[in-house]
Amino acid sequence: MNNITLPVRFNPSTPQQYDIIIGNNILKNPDKYLSPLLARAKVAIVTDEHVAAFQLEPFTNSLKEAGINFDTIIIPAGEESKKFKTLEMILSKLLAFGIERRDAVIALGGGVVGDITGFACSMLRRGCQFIQAPTTILAQVDSSVGGKTAINSTQGKNLIGAFYQPRAVFTDIDTLSTLPQRERRAGYAEIVKYGLLGDREFFEWLEKHGKDVLALEVQSISYAVRRSCEMKAQIVEADERENGKRALLNLGHTFGHALEGAYGFSSKLIHGEGVSIGMVLAFEYAAAHQQCPHSDVTLVKDHLQSVGCPTEITDIVDHHHLSADRLMELMMQDKKVEDGNLTLILPNAIGNAVIKKDIPTSSVHAFWKQHLTT
Ligand SMILES: NC(=O)c1ccc[n+]([C@@H]2O[C@H](COP(=O)([O-])OP(=O)(O)OC[C@H]3O[C@@H](n4cnc5c(N)ncnc54)[C@H](O)[C@@H]3O)[C@@H](O)[C@H]2O)c1
Repeated sequence: MNNITLPVRFNPSTPQQYDIIIGNNILKNPDKYLSPLLARAKVAIVTDEHVAAFQLEPFTNSLKEAGINFDTIIIPAGEESKKFKTLEMILSKLLAFGIERRDAVIALGGGVVGDITGFACSMLRRGCQFIQAPTTILAQVDSSVGGKTAINSTQGKNLIGAFYQPRAVFTDIDTLSTLPQRERRAGYAEIVKYGLLGDREFFEWLEKHGKDVLALEVQSISYAVRRSCEMKAQIVEADERENGKRALLNLGHTFGHALEGAYGFSSKLIHGEGVSIGMVLAFEYAAAHQQCPHSDVTLVKDHLQSVGCPTEITDIVDHHHLSADRLMELMMQDKKVEDGNLTLILPNAIGNAVIKKDIPTSSVHAFWKQHLTT
């Protein structure tokens, strides 16, 4: 299969534009993909300890063959690493390696590595070259595209960061082969999100091919990643700073983040699992308010269940400790809250989500209560 080049083009008057390359053997071919972007034959790689165990050596062997010098920074795996201490360590090492503004830093890993590395690149000498090499489905279809970079703070997730676009995204499907099933399914929920928010035909395609996507069958995973990236690119090109349409990408996230927050953003409920349940809740909330047909709620639930994604609060371990008050409190921390009122992304139907402002908190509280007692 030929690799696909997907252009991301912002306002033509700004220099921000880059390509997403999707396919096989991308990281094994630095001569073809990486070298043309480098000012000199030197890069730094940031990765985490899990990805390093599986993916680092093949990549660095290819760099050696291509005569590209490299230094490597390995951070601990997991959300816990998205903090000031790790950021400081990355920045100090990059300076010690002599990475200059025109040099490239490559984020080899999932969304955690991509988010913190991008943020570090935005600051290093006031901005060096940043290349995304996403190795999770979630990162390939979502976090590597669009330029949101961040770390967490004690006050919440992704609250400190910058918009900083990469120079290129190398989406090498081969890297997914070592990704655990649970992480694959979590990323798959984000793929389903694109169908639900804006492309019913894509959702129907996923109903037929979802299992092939998860089994990493080349044509299926490539198409699913490509269609997701196309949709994300189109949305972020139109609204880079999330002043409007970009919020649609949050379908399921306001409910999902509250659930993730209730588990302290721990491995008990990982992001894509929260999104999976959150999307079902968004559909159910919309149906309960006569905005969306009940038959679509059933289709969404059936599909997510058929591929092993969680759809109910009762699918989460220790769900008995959840309370509507706590979930509401967490939901009110959402970045889309305006003047104390909630904004939700709600579907009119599969493939047609809209941004709804001024949602009464009492109605969402009652909705949580009902779900916690059923
Ligand atoms: N910037 C954005 O627009 C954006 C969008 C969505 C999510 N995010 C962020 O992304 C993060 C979640 O990303 P994620 O789900 O990729 O998590 P992650 O980076 O923690 O990766 C998940 C796990 O898989 C491991 N892993 C990664 N690639 C692997 C591979 N090929 N083989 C084996 N193991 C591998 C990692 O070490 C980790 O343990 C969150 O911090 C979230 O806030 C950012």
